[in-house]
Amino acid sequence: MAFFGYIGVFMCGIIGFSGKLDAKKVILDGLTTLEYRGYDSCGVCLVDTDHKFSIVKSTGKVVDLLPKVDEIITKETHVGIGHTRWATHGGVITENAHPHHAGLVNLIHNGIIENYLSLREQYKLDNALEGGTDTEIVANILNLIYKKNKNEPLSSIKKLTDIIKGTFAFLIMFEDRPDEVYAIKHVSPLVCAKSNDGSFIASDITALMPYTKEFSVIEEGTIVCADKDSLKAYDLKTLKEISLKTETITWSVDTAKKDGYNHFMLKEIHEQCTALENTIKPRIIDFNIDLSNDGIEDNAYEFFKKIEKIHIVACGTALHAGKVGASVFQDVLNIPVDDYIASEYRYSNTLTNDKTLVIVLSQSGETIDTLASLEKAKSKGAKVISIVNVKGSTIARNSDYVLYTHAGPEIAVASTKAYTVQVATIYLLLTKIASVRSAIDRSYEKSVCENLYASIENIKTALQKENEIKDIVKYISSSHDAFYIGRGLDYVFSLEGALKLKEISYIHTEAYAAGELKHGTIALIEDGTPVIAVCTQSDIATKFLSNVKEVKARNAYVILIITDGIKYEKDLADIVIKIDKVDDKFSVFPVAVITQLIAYYTAYTKGLDIDKPRNLAKSVTVE
Ligand code: G6P
Repeated sequence: MAFFGYIGVFMCGIIGFSGKLDAKKVILDGLTTLEYRGYDSCGVCLVDTDHKFSIVKSTGKVVDLLPKVDEIITKETHVGIGHTRWATHGGVITENAHPHHAGLVNLIHNGIIENYLSLREQYKLDNALEGGTDTEIVANILNLIYKKNKNEPLSSIKKLTDIIKGTFAFLIMFEDRPDEVYAIKHVSPLVCAKSNDGSFIASDITALMPYTKEFSVIEEGTIVCADKDSLKAYDLKTLKEISLKTETITWSVDTAKKDGYNHFMLKEIHEQCTALENTIKPRIIDFNIDLSNDGIEDNAYEFFKKIEKIHIVACGTALHAGKVGASVFQDVLNIPVDDYIASEYRYSNTLTNDKTLVIVLSQSGETIDTLASLEKAKSKGAKVISIVNVKGSTIARNSDYVLYTHAGPEIAVASTKAYTVQVATIYLLLTKIASVRSAIDRSYEKSVCENLYASIENIKTALQKENEIKDIVKYISSSHDAFYIGRGLDYVFSLEGALKLKEISYIHTEAYAAGELKHGTIALIEDGTPVIAVCTQSDIATKFLSNVKEVKARNAYVILIITDGIKYEKDLADIVIKIDKVDDKFSVFPVAVITQLIAYYTAYTKGLDIDKPRNLAKSVTVE
């Protein structure tokens, strides 16, 4: 056995199909769509019309796998599974790509099997393994169980789940059952759908959107069997057939296409007016916030009245949206509103109790740390409201209440439109809570609604700066380091601006609270270091502009993003980008657009793979 170190397969995209269509096309198209979940390696297992099973897999992206599949599989195929992988440790090598084959079993996996070492020993698999994945061990064990179980799939899968520990979404094909694809999951997400063309199973609905709008979430403890005529579900304990609950997705398949844009990220930046409008419109009636369609009415109000603190928990960009909400509304609500990194929250003593409202934000609704924080909060008696973009996702289903954002599918790994609508939604929610608690008067609520509507226009105006920004980034794109600075809410916006820039341009970028620069960071400013200074908070602008002077005096190259009307000295900045005058609390929207465009065009100038930045994945489904 070649030993490459055991590898947990973490966030991956998986798809299976059995039906009338060309399975090769369905699986490869699906993998292309799901590639944002990981793109270290990919592979397929397809069955041709002679019932011959072929596995083709390789490191790299789906586009490079395509010709290999065409070369090896020349006959028609109508059944298959495919996998695109994101690994954390160990080599990204073909042997570790999925599918894994053992005897009669072909298997793909999203998740991590924790007891792989003891299983390997127990089943004496040393000589059977080629690569170094936990998944290969599972494929081998399932093959042994299947043989012992007289080739009975359901009871074999049940036995497998009795002995493995960890998280998983498996798709399995048995070679003596060439029309069928089996699925079982624990924690890692899976959805399935049946159309006139056949049966589909995938990590998320984006891969199924070209075929159907009706789908079912595969629940815990359910085995699903997809064949060309049927999609059946079985209770894992009893192995009796059960029914699947169908949901409808409102997203259109066109929203998951690039529409002439060079990248999904740019398209998604431009979709922010529509996304914002779609998210706020159903929740604002006559300039009153109405969340009753989200189930937030009397019962929730009773709880809002008794809460003593609010915890906001999320990861990445969603966390930054949460931080904006916390910064704006702590004053308004006059109770502690604290934001937490989900991977920290789940393991710390956060004093969560039955008088805590926990708000979790997640585009995908599957981020494992956010999900674990949600479960922890519920176990402490807190109520959880989630702000989620993907309908039917695990976080949405496990929350007490869910407010869906209506951004439509977000494909680019770097989040843009999801952030904007998360901010708008948390503003609506926290304003509603303030109103229920009588912390604000009617005019405050009305002004939030008005400002949110005005933000649609402010985003439009900010988008008009696109050409201006294309020129500005030439300077940043040739730098190794960059800084974002701001004070108050501008510091919070800077955190997101810096994340966006670093994640897609690979330029080391940090955000600093400008008042803190003197305590160390200013030592890093050299001749020409780009400093993007965000100045939209009128109450602290004078103090902030003094901090900008301090970096300018050290010869930083200053790009000042400033609200029209705030006065500044002409020689303070090398470049000035003005945003329209807006209420300070709502500058988040135009600033987001400007900073997203800065990141996009910097990465574009550098010729990078903007939608799939190195080492990242969009949906982080294990810790
Ligand atoms: C990943 C993505 C980010 C996202 C974060 C949280 O890191 O690359 O864009 O902000 O996960 O994801 P969520 O789906 O929970 O919003």
